[in-house]
Amino acid sequence: MTALMTAANLDVSLPMPQSPLQFLTPGRATIDILRDISLTIDAKTTLGLVGESGSGKSTLARALLGLQPISGGEICFDQVPLTTPAGFQSLRRSTAMMFQDPIASLSPRMRIGKQLTEPFVIHRVVMPDRGARAAQLLDRVGLPASLADRYPHELSGGQARRVCVARALALSPRLLIADEPTAGLDVSVQGEILNLLRQIRDETGLALLIITHNLPMVRHVSDHVAIMYLGRLIETGPTRTVFANPKHPYTQNLIASKPQPDPRKRRSDLAIKGEIPSILRRPEGCEFHNRCRFAQDLCRQHPPELREVSAGQFARCHYAETLTK
Ligand SMILES: Nc1ncnc2c1ncn2[C@@H]1O[C@H](COP(=O)(O)OP(=O)(O)O)[C@@H](O)[C@H]1O
Ligand SMILES: [Mg+2]
Repeated sequence: MTALMTAANLDVSLPMPQSPLQFLTPGRATIDILRDISLTIDAKTTLGLVGESGSGKSTLARALLGLQPISGGEICFDQVPLTTPAGFQSLRRSTAMMFQDPIASLSPRMRIGKQLTEPFVIHRVVMPDRGARAAQLLDRVGLPASLADRYPHELSGGQARRVCVARALALSPRLLIADEPTAGLDVSVQGEILNLLRQIRDETGLALLIITHNLPMVRHVSDHVAIMYLGRLIETGPTRTVFANPKHPYTQNLIASKPQPDPRKRRSDLAIKGEIPSILRRPEGCEFHNRCRFAQDLCRQHPPELREVSAGQFARCHYAETLTK
């Protein structure tokens, strides 16, 4: 297995939002959005990144692509650090991102065909027949060539996602990051988009990072999973291992509980009891302790490290080995 992208001990801190109560927390000018994230995406594999809203998934995606400044750690693409011009160039050329909101990520006043070939202009790739290339890209995602003349608002949600996939494929990336690729779509369309991503991965051998709060989807499509909580990874490992034998109580809860299908009745995106704490007020010790039914004094006092609990499986829990589900 070759590592295509690695992040080591990544931190992202952002300036504290301006607040009239700022004088209450003097000296705390920044908030930690991501803390100590280490992960590897192997070539030609799919990693599923799971976490509740606000846990930092999109921030991590942007950081991995060099779109979000990091305050600590190192990112390498193809073993080359992003801080070097060569590393950054190779990343820019070989990765593509599907942003969370597909309609918003398309330009409203530009025809689809032109949007599909824009990456060639941006990256100065010579493409004599752009029209033919746009038609070919549309065909690859199962859309008719006639869509090239349409504008984004004329598309259905599913079609817009497909256009985003097509645009992401324009420069034949080696890594595609898809942020919530099925959010807001009907269940049947969700399945179609996932199958499309899978099919493209199999055909092209690109690596996929799929970001989602949809656990069944991750189980279905990912080789590896990484579970995020309050800006930290709390469990990572091969999908089959983690689903068969989750070691972190949070992961155990996620897998055991059924999601509430009605979004209005959900207290959080993932079916788990209790509110996710704010990153502005991180709990002391293990940050999950206030929602954990196994919590002991040690958990309230000392933050656990992410450590290997079985071959290739890592969990951030003091008691990972002794918990019963
Ligand atoms: N530019 C920003 N400035 C301040 N806070 C931000 C910014 N972007 C994201 N955040 C905060 O960072 C946290 C993680 O956000 P995000 O990465 O979008 O999470 P997710 O994608 O998992 O829902 C949230 O609490 C959000 O409010
Ligand atoms: Mg997000």
